[in-house]
Amino acid sequence: MDIEYKFCFPNKWTFKMKPIYEFVMEEMKKAKKVLVPFAGVVRFDHSDITYIDIQDNLPKPYIKGDTMKILPKLIKKGEKYDLIVSDPPYSASRNVMLYKNQKYHEITLFRYYYHQLLEDNGIVLEFGFNSNGISEKKGYRKVKLLIVAVGGNHNDFLCLKQIKTQKSRFNTIQKNMKINKLMRFE
Ligand SMILES: C[S@@+](CC[C@H](N)C(=O)[O-])C[C@H]1O[C@@H](n2cnc3c(N)ncnc32)[C@H](O)[C@@H]1O
Repeated sequence: MDIEYKFCFPNKWTFKMKPIYEFVMEEMKKAKKVLVPFAGVVRFDHSDITYIDIQDNLPKPYIKGDTMKILPKLIKKGEKYDLIVSDPPYSASRNVMLYKNQKYHEITLFRYYYHQLLEDNGIVLEFGFNSNGISEKKGYRKVKLLIVAVGGNHNDFLCLKQIKTQKSRFNTIQKNMKINKLMRFE
């Protein structure tokens, strides 16, 4: 796996951070059809991107709603993407503080949907305070990690690029998974 280390001041709109924007753009340039399930405010120069966000009054275009409810609808419609750019709130408490909403879901639940929406050899970019990503056992290969230090005693932002290999399988539906109470206030 390629590992890169950069510094940038933090921003609650992750893609406004230059090294992270560039990390995303590198993949956008190669992708045909892109899904951005936690869109926030940044819109990329690309002709086929589906943005989703739960907040009102964000820059258009975007589907307004809970990603957890919208992804199954996209699956039902048979949509497929070759790039998914996943930048969810990094914890339940940040979701309330920074984005003013309570609809926090475990990332593991989203990954199950990503798997169904992603073409073979498609790419998932995940952003957060850890680099767990989708398990290699499920056939996803971690190919690049960008570590962005943001100063002080803050967590680094970790940006992970993964490829869905042809061996990938993701049979478990984890819909019953509950949010661990301790995780809510990490
Ligand atoms: C870390 S920010 C992403 C910011 C974006 N990458 C940017 O740089 O502008 C997380 C985003 O997820 C949205 N969000 C949180 N929970 C959501 C949910 N259940 N469904 C859809 N969007 C959600 C928030 O409103 C927020 O815009």
